[in-house]
Amino acid sequence: MALFIISNRLPLKVGKSEDGFIYERSEGGLATGLGSLQDFPDRHWIGWPGIYSDDNQERLEICNGLLKENFHPVFLSEEQIQDYYEGYNNSMIWPLCHYFYTYIQYESRFWETYQEVNRLFCDEAAKLLKPGDMVWVQDYQLMLLPAMLRERIEDISIGYFHHIPFPSYELFRVLPERAEILKGLMGADLIGFHTHDYMRHFISATYRVLGLDSDLDEIHYGDRIVHVDAFPMGINYDLHYSAILDPSVLKKAKEFRKNFGNHKLVLSVDRLDYSKGILHRLKGFSLFLENNPEYRGKVSLVMVVVPSRDSVERYADLKTKIDEMIGSLNGMYSSLNWSPVYYFYRGFPFEELMALYHIANYALVTPLRDGMNLVAKEYVAAKHDEPGMLILSEMAGAANELKDAIIINPNDIDEIERALLEALKMPEEEKKKRMDKMRKILSKQTVNKWANDFTSELVSIKNINTALKNKKIGPDSFFKIKEKYQNAKKRLIILDYDGTLVPLVKKPELAIPDRQLMDTLKLLATDQKNKVVISSGRDAEFLDKWFSDLDLNLAAEHGAFYKENGKWHENVRTKFPADEEILDLLQKTADKTPGSRIEVKKTSMVWHFRNSDKWLAELREKQLINALMIPCARLGLQIMRGNKVIEIKTTGVDKGVEATRLMSADNYDFVMAMGDDITDEDMFHVMPDDAITIKVGSISDHARFSLLQLNTVKFINSLITPETIA
Ligand code: UDP
Ligand code: G6P
Repeated sequence: MALFIISNRLPLKVGKSEDGFIYERSEGGLATGLGSLQDFPDRHWIGWPGIYSDDNQERLEICNGLLKENFHPVFLSEEQIQDYYEGYNNSMIWPLCHYFYTYIQYESRFWETYQEVNRLFCDEAAKLLKPGDMVWVQDYQLMLLPAMLRERIEDISIGYFHHIPFPSYELFRVLPERAEILKGLMGADLIGFHTHDYMRHFISATYRVLGLDSDLDEIHYGDRIVHVDAFPMGINYDLHYSAILDPSVLKKAKEFRKNFGNHKLVLSVDRLDYSKGILHRLKGFSLFLENNPEYRGKVSLVMVVVPSRDSVERYADLKTKIDEMIGSLNGMYSSLNWSPVYYFYRGFPFEELMALYHIANYALVTPLRDGMNLVAKEYVAAKHDEPGMLILSEMAGAANELKDAIIINPNDIDEIERALLEALKMPEEEKKKRMDKMRKILSKQTVNKWANDFTSELVSIKNINTALKNKKIGPDSFFKIKEKYQNAKKRLIILDYDGTLVPLVKKPELAIPDRQLMDTLKLLATDQKNKVVISSGRDAEFLDKWFSDLDLNLAAEHGAFYKENGKWHENVRTKFPADEEILDLLQKTADKTPGSRIEVKKTSMVWHFRNSDKWLAELREKQLINALMIPCARLGLQIMRGNKVIEIKTTGVDKGVEATRLMSADNYDFVMAMGDDITDEDMFHVMPDDAITIKVGSISDHARFSLLQLNTVKFINSLITPETIA
């Protein structure tokens, strides 16, 4: 099995020199982080090589140059780069995901090209991928690719990782193509984010935009389950920690130190980007010098800004503002032998960057929003065992892990000033202690662990999905069931009602059987070999109203009552206590949850919330369960979570108890149970291994089979007549 990483940019960018093509390390966390991955023997990478070329000979040469590393280029034209990369990616998605709503620039051709380029990546992947391979799509530039790959190539596992923040739904809804983007992502088996917050926002968007239901970290999407999880990306710790042991890095460090003099150095390293808070940082540093003249001449800010996306208007503007601000700061405070800001507008090679990290007394990392921020992690590691101190924005994903840094709100300029003072005055032992604690975390959560965690989860999801897929009733399994049915002498058939025989609807009183269902049930029940039972959560009155004319057995209120030979019996002796406190709790919950209602049955009370807002209902569900714990324990009642219901009922009876009673009443050689709800799991659970247990509408651990669409009536008809199901 090969692993294919697909990202907009390859970790190497190709340039042209007089002697031919040159290959340099790409900047940015995605390329540097993933570029240092080890442990994946059959690893391929598909991405843009960072160069334009229409010439076939040149393209071939570049392909061959990259192939040595198993890199496969996708060539893009200048127009595509303008509309897809500068346009949709960096003038639309990037500002949106980083909460720079007003920076969004929208042209409909951006979206056209975004789709076109995602298709180009899909074409390239389709040439290379084989069944069984694993694809790992990276980042916001390729959000349509997971669904495209799923449609085009069979039997591959697809993962997607979002390296930037996923914004709150209130912001995400702004995107005209929000539904298409989400559907594109839902092609993946596993979707990863750096933090739980981004993951939460994503799940909320799938619910609000696509109306999808989720269960913790699983989103139900058609006949598939898409898993979502948080995997904080790490760095290659050993590489950064040991960098200073390399003589060339040490030499550079000494050289830099000599050139900068004995001033305390505060380092910042970013790509040119408004999300990085560079202007706020400069303001904070300026305030620090203004209010604390004793530090003038003693502390300098070393600011590395790596050129990035400078053909996008906002980036070019930012560059001008940075230049102006640094110019005025240096003009105001510089002396003959000291500059407040040393400004480098270029990328540094790895060794030099490590040397800079190592000599910097402090790192000032102040993004206004950042998916993760690897610079913060690299600085802590590259200090080796030296003290140093990190000042870190709470808006960076990295702040979730690096809690021993001095954490600041980057919008608060005064706080930046205070943090600088705190760092400068912090005793050496405390700095050392805090840096050591952070290094310990970073040494465990490495980039290799991150990639291994993600890919292993992808493999296990693939295995689960395959096992689940095998439960779907297809022609083969159907014929086996049918054969067993035809050969049987005595059959017990237990059918759930809502969601199995009739669809779930907003108003339960409207879920009534149609003619086709009545005919099918009649036909099923007329066969003398069959004992047919409708086992429902509904009360006896409802079941009698619709089914008393048929030769059926009935079980009401989840097995609390059963009807045989025209008479109702009780499975449970204890009556439901008429408890005011419980009724009151349910009523209050229903009152403050629009769309929900309560139902009082003989053996239970139910709070129904199918028609309520999911997030509100989830909150109320937790509050209600908390509040019910004590009174239910006192009264010996059980709290049961069903499909969009909470049911409080007498103990000792459920659909499983009723199924056991039915099975023990005779010698059946064919037992079949069909149901869609959590309460039906109780009957699947008690049935023998050879029983035909069928989960309707989804897949269950306990049921042997599943019918993914509600076509129970069609299924039963096909079972009892000579025809087959489609
Ligand atoms: N980086 C680099 N050369 C430089 C400056 C930075 O290669 O001159 C790398 C740095 O080591 C880090 C990455 O660029 O790995 C920046 O990643 P980060 O997550 O901090 O920010 P991003 O650029 O992804 O937004
Ligand atoms: C961030 C993004 C990456 C991107 C990198 C560099 O890290 O998450 O997807 O590659 O910045 O940006 P660039 O536009 O130069 O690829």
